[in-house]
Amino acid sequence: MTEIHALPKAELHVHIEGTFEPELIFEIAARNRVALPYANVEALRAAYDFSDLQSFLGVYYAGMDVLRVERDFYDLTIAYLRRAVAQGVRHAEIFFDPQAHLSRGIAFDVVVNGIRQALREGERDLRVTSHLILCFLRDLSEESAMETLDLALRNREKIVAVGLDSAELGNPPSKFVRVFDRARAEGFLTVAHAGEEGPPEYVAEALDLLKVARVDHGVRCMEDPALVQRLVRERVPLTVCPLSNVRLRVVRSLEEHPLKRMFDAGLLVTVNSDDPAYFGGYVGENYAGVAALGFTTEELATLARHSFEASFLEEPLRRRYLEEIAGVDGSELQDAALP
Ligand code: ADE
Ligand code: ZN
Repeated sequence: MTEIHALPKAELHVHIEGTFEPELIFEIAARNRVALPYANVEALRAAYDFSDLQSFLGVYYAGMDVLRVERDFYDLTIAYLRRAVAQGVRHAEIFFDPQAHLSRGIAFDVVVNGIRQALREGERDLRVTSHLILCFLRDLSEESAMETLDLALRNREKIVAVGLDSAELGNPPSKFVRVFDRARAEGFLTVAHAGEEGPPEYVAEALDLLKVARVDHGVRCMEDPALVQRLVRERVPLTVCPLSNVRLRVVRSLEEHPLKRMFDAGLLVTVNSDDPAYFGGYVGENYAGVAALGFTTEELATLARHSFEASFLEEPLRRRYLEEIAGVDGSELQDAALP
């Protein structure tokens, strides 16, 4: 594990609200005098037994309800950055779900300012660079997404891209064409969760209709060989989250995860944690988990290279991080690649 941590990496798929550890949930709940429907940390953790994405989302939205003031969002974000940096993360592109806070009466500025204070501190004190990606909740209306985009436009310089998350089935990318058209016209990059629980057609829609620069998850593309060929040809990055896929039963077990087959097919796959506080591991545990799928030491380094190639980093910095990987002694990673 320490060996895999030595590999400089970017994390491109992490929901900041999904990094909310039970201990911090209880601490902030006490501070804000919010009653929790769980007796203690252990009882809360015991509820983390999910049958699918929807069963997770219920617990996820309940957990974030204790976040009320700027300091809460700061504490959440700085805790994530400290853990990520300890596992070799040099750059993080972080999702946040403003609608899940706006609907509880928490202002957009409270959320963004709290997160950004931690990101600035991370850059200064922890040497981790970062970008923010605003996600629209796809189970809410197009109108609600458009109102949220209005708020994002008032914070244009703080947000690099917009994305699409929450319940995928029945909420295809086509529902948000006008929102994404406007977002791109305003200069935002676009990404979308697709092909997690949803069919390969949603991946194609995300590319064709939302013009995404990356697909989040995308694992179900493997059901459509022509789509895989297209993703390879167009070098579309997929931000894969192996432990998440196991916990949300997208795949039966880590051993059956398609990541190695995706990699061998030539897809630009990256390894990420999604909601690490809920799914049993941060990005390091995800790399360590997939190492057992048969990745060689050199291939693990290629996964890390992919993470910087697929990032929204400016060129000089991307090159610098790629050079850092080249500087890591292969023997430091040897143990990590052993099954
Ligand atoms: N929001 C947080 N985690 C998510 C996931 N894995 N899929 C869709 N929406 C999410
Ligand atoms: Zn996600």
